[in-house]
Amino acid sequence: MLVTSKELLLDAQKNGYAVGAFNTNNLEITHAIVRAAEAKRAPILIQISAGAIKYAGLEFLPMIVCKAAEQASVPIAVHLDHGPSFDLVMKALRHGFTSIMRDASSLPYEGNVAEVRKVVEACHAIGVPVEAEIGRLGGVEEHVVVSEREALMSDPDECARFVADAGFDFLAVAIGNAHGFYKGVPKLDFDRLDAIRERVDVPLVLHGASGIPDYQITQAVEHGIAKINIDTEIRHAFATTVRKFQEENPDQIDPRKILQPVIAAMQAVVERKIEIFRSAGRA
Ligand code: 13P
Repeated sequence: MLVTSKELLLDAQKNGYAVGAFNTNNLEITHAIVRAAEAKRAPILIQISAGAIKYAGLEFLPMIVCKAAEQASVPIAVHLDHGPSFDLVMKALRHGFTSIMRDASSLPYEGNVAEVRKVVEACHAIGVPVEAEIGRLGGVEEHVVVSEREALMSDPDECARFVADAGFDFLAVAIGNAHGFYKGVPKLDFDRLDAIRERVDVPLVLHGASGIPDYQITQAVEHGIAKINIDTEIRHAFATTVRKFQEENPDQIDPRKILQPVIAAMQAVVERKIEIFRSAGRA
């Protein structure tokens, strides 16, 4: 069933688990995510980024994802990931999204607040919750490119001010996480997360979770993260499974046959994450 993310994240925050937010670009990834959520009886978000919309078309991808969410036997919110502009947020709302991120974290503080407030006013008028980010993540995620040098962690006092000033529903934090695969083992700053948690009462979001070791994900959930974003590990399963299938079946040209094991491999990744996030059986 299609729901908004607010009810999902508030339940996660209250009961000590995290809801998985999985990125999709197409029909096959969407099927894999929904099948995993249904198999594990888990509430989830399916996320669509500006890059995914550009690739698949604003008219097509949200239609596929919203239809899949409506028909699913578990609650699913359809989320705009890293919304880059007010304009795209409005288009997303028109196309049925039930959850919005407005990412203006590259702007100075006042600009970030102003952009988020504008989106909050529009979204709250129709009951759609809003995620915002402060501090900057390293790595690359679609249009978001921040060098490691520039990556700034979220400041706990500024987080509290940001929530009060901009009035949004979920806060994405930068605590040593980065988009894409990590060079070496990441080390999340749990003291910083605790300090943010103490000062902020809205649910907290961890981006860039692909490649973070399971024990740190478990700790992140225990320290109060309620939404965890995964994209890269799904892409990795897609690419490696296609390559392997092609090597083993060089004469196969039927996309349906090629993509069947790919969907299964992506589903396995999502099911594993749902287990680690402790959201299995919560639907
Ligand atoms: P990964 O690509 O590291 O999984 O991050 C996904 C993400 O945070 C999407 O916003």
